Amino acid sequence: MRHLLSIEDLDRDAIERIVARAARFAEVSDREIKKVPALRGRMVLNLFYEASTRTRSSFELAAKRLSADVVNFAATGSSVEKGESLKDTVLTLSAHKPDAIVLRTPWAGAAELVSGWCSAAIVNAGDGKHEHPTQALLDVYTLRERLGAIDGASIWIVGDVAHSRVARSNIIAFQRMGASVTVAGPPTLIPRGIEALGCDVRYTLAELASADVVYALRMQRERMSETWVPSLREYAAWYQLNAGRLTPRQVLMHPGPVNRGVELSGEVLDSPQAAVTAQVEAGVVVRMAVLYELLAGASAPSPRRRGRQIAPASDRARTGPGAELSDAEGVPDAAIFGMQDGA
Ligand code: NCD
Repeated sequence: MRHLLSIEDLDRDAIERIVARAARFAEVSDREIKKVPALRGRMVLNLFYEASTRTRSSFELAAKRLSADVVNFAATGSSVEKGESLKDTVLTLSAHKPDAIVLRTPWAGAAELVSGWCSAAIVNAGDGKHEHPTQALLDVYTLRERLGAIDGASIWIVGDVAHSRVARSNIIAFQRMGASVTVAGPPTLIPRGIEALGCDVRYTLAELASADVVYALRMQRERMSETWVPSLREYAAWYQLNAGRLTPRQVLMHPGPVNRGVELSGEVLDSPQAAVTAQVEAGVVVRMAVLYELLAGASAPSPRRRGRQIAPASDRARTGPGAELSDAEGVPDAAIFGMQDGA
């Protein structure tokens, strides 16, 4: 895997591989020293043109737990405010030779464009209304932890599907893992033709009881240029997920940030059926697995990059010969997890 631009690029085996590695990284998070040397000497650049709490902090933490160096760039307070374009910003920051760029922008397709402008591995951390593949991966991980298997589960994605990159990535990922997916919401917020992705569509919550998992989406007002529902109060009256509409056996998910009292009632958000905090926790280990896959896996390095990926002899001796270059699957656990002295 060279980049992670879209969940479409990952077949079921690849998703399983990333989720399995994330589970092994979860063990690192329980250690006193929460760090392994797997990406020592690599540089990860977080390039964020949009607000983010969970995604940015978990990518930063993931890179640091793998001992990579991290540079955080936020468009606010940067030369972007002086008119610098995305391309010139990427070329400028590429002078620091990042091995990976984690990119969030309001522009659909931007991650793919950037992958053509520089040699770093690109991770799409959200491109406009298009995709958010690491969110889909962490949601698969979270559901696996909750349900054991996703095969055969009925998953309802409820709310503002039209403006949601999470919905697009998750519809694909959940189905690849064997679930059946239904999207539900007001007709104005369900894109026409979305059935082409393989999901069912409902415009009311009348059959919500058939869902094993209910995945709520935020009303994404920052992406709406006009009014799509009469009012948020009206939306909540018809589509809010609350104790009257959910049964306790259903797993409740939300990518965050939640508009408490709009798409979710405070009561269900604070209840044990909500997996929202588990999703945030999963974000760190899943992003560790993605960065590891891109930067330490066998297929990633091009000949030019290979030179920089070979660890100094002293490191090789400690992590096992060839550990930095061999297929991640073939690297003994000790090489990835055994070290606690990564700086
Ligand atoms: C989502 C996003 O930004 O796409 N949040 C996230 O990454 N956790 C969903 C949202 O903003 O509603």
